[in-house]
Amino acid sequence: MRADKNIFLIGFMGAGKSTAARALQRRLQLPLVEMDARIAAEQGMAITDIFERFGEAHFRELESALLQTLGREAPSIVSCGGGVVVSAHNVEEMKRNGMVVYLKAEPETIYERVKDSSERPILNGNMNVAYIAGLMEKRRSLYESAASFTVVTDGRTEDEICGEIIRFVGRQD
Ligand code: S3P
Repeated sequence: MRADKNIFLIGFMGAGKSTAARALQRRLQLPLVEMDARIAAEQGMAITDIFERFGEAHFRELESALLQTLGREAPSIVSCGGGVVVSAHNVEEMKRNGMVVYLKAEPETIYERVKDSSERPILNGNMNVAYIAGLMEKRRSLYESAASFTVVTDGRTEDEICGEIIRFVGRQD
């Protein structure tokens, strides 16, 4: 099993990145980096507060800076924020430093998973299937072209998703 490279999990909010990342960490014994959590810890404030006080553009800069830092750290499972692919530079950085896996789910599935969360500023005031579907459509080609492997997560167990990613990672040895 290849453990000398990062595994970046990308995909829309609620696609299952954090859950899959924790399962992969247990199976592969690699460190886990939850990008949002690390940014929040480093800034000493919640992601919603960063958006509110400094705006989305500033958050995107923090995200890009963290990706560059991760490129210099030990190989890890990286659960990325859903908007990480918006910057082409971020995509290059991920491709250079590891494998990129796209976790994909239908807008209805996403909605069910995130509807009770108030921690996603992008969806505050936009918490409905139509908005999710529209934003997902705008980002679809970015996710697809960034990733070398796609895993559908609708109606699937953590084990199934994790197993599929591990088989892909194994084939990259
Ligand atoms: C965002 C997704 C969030 C977080 C921020 C912006 C996005 O991460 O980075 O709220 O633009 O899609 P999750 O995908 O982990 O919810």
